[in-house]
Amino acid sequence: MSRTMEPSASSRDPGQAVLAIRDRWNGMARVGVVLGTGLGDLAAEIDAQVSLPYGSIPGFPSCSALAHAGRLVCGTLAGIPLIALQGRCHLYEGYSLAEVAFPTSVLAALGVRTLIVTNAAGGLHPRMAIGDVMLIDDHIHLQGFGGSWRLDPDSLRLARMPRPHSRLYDAELGERASVIARGADVELRRGVYVGVTGPTYETRAEYRAFRRIGGDAVGMSTIAEVLIARSLGLRVIGLSTITNVARPDAPQVVSAENVAHVAASALPKVRLLVRGLIQEAQNKPA
Ligand code: HPA
Repeated sequence: MSRTMEPSASSRDPGQAVLAIRDRWNGMARVGVVLGTGLGDLAAEIDAQVSLPYGSIPGFPSCSALAHAGRLVCGTLAGIPLIALQGRCHLYEGYSLAEVAFPTSVLAALGVRTLIVTNAAGGLHPRMAIGDVMLIDDHIHLQGFGGSWRLDPDSLRLARMPRPHSRLYDAELGERASVIARGADVELRRGVYVGVTGPTYETRAEYRAFRRIGGDAVGMSTIAEVLIARSLGLRVIGLSTITNVARPDAPQVVSAENVAHVAASALPKVRLLVRGLIQEAQNKPA
C-alpha cells in the first residue's frame, strides 16, 4: 500500500464486486440495510433470493468479529426488495476506513438509494438504559483513518470527499422512525454517536470524556459507511442498540459476548423500525 498523502486511483473497484453479484442476482433494490452486532438474525426474515459470503465477492473484507456472519443477502422483506449486509468488518480488525466503507459503495453501485445502518453501542447519556434503541442524530468521528495505522489513499479520499452540506442523518427518515416507534409504544431515544476504533471498551474516564464532548452513545463502527453513503448521495438513517451503559459510579464489565447477547434481545424493536423504514424508503426514494 502506498504511503503517499495524495489521493490516487482507487485500488478497490466496486465494478468487479457488482459483476460478481450480478452473476448471481439480477434484481433491483432501493434499500440497503447494514445489520450490526447481534442483529444479524434479521437476515433470516428476508425472503432471500441469493446469499453470498463476503469472501466470494471481489474486494469485500472478511469479518472476524463475534456475531458478524459476513454475508450479503439479496431478497425481499415484507415484500420490499432490499440488500442486507449481514455483519460488517471493523477498523480494529486491521482494515482502513476505505476498506470498511467498500461494501456500502457496492450497495450504491447496485442501485441502493437509502441505507439503514444498525449497530451496538454503549450508552453515555445518563437516561440511556440497556436495551434502548437510539436514533442517531449526528456523529463524532474519532476513528481517524482506520485501525491499520496506514494513511492509504482511498481512506484519505473518503475523508476529503465533498459531501452535501445537509445533515448526514436524514431528518425525514428520522421523523418516520419516531412515528413508527410511537405507534407501537416503543421508546426511541435520539442522540449523538461517538465512533471510536476500539477494540478495547472504554475506561470510566473515557466514558466521562465522551459524554462531555456531546456523545450520547459510543461504538466502533458506522462512521465510514455513513460517510461513503452520503458522499454518494444516499439517504441514511442510523439506529444504535444500547447494550451497556456507562455509570462512572457503578462501573460494569463490558464483554463482546454480553454486547452481542443484549443486542439480540433488542431485535424486536429494531425489526419494527426496519420494517417500517423500508416501506418509507420504497415509497419515497432519494
Ligand atoms: N463502547 C464501544 N463500543 C461498544 C460499546 C461500548 O461501551 N458497547 C457496544 N459497542
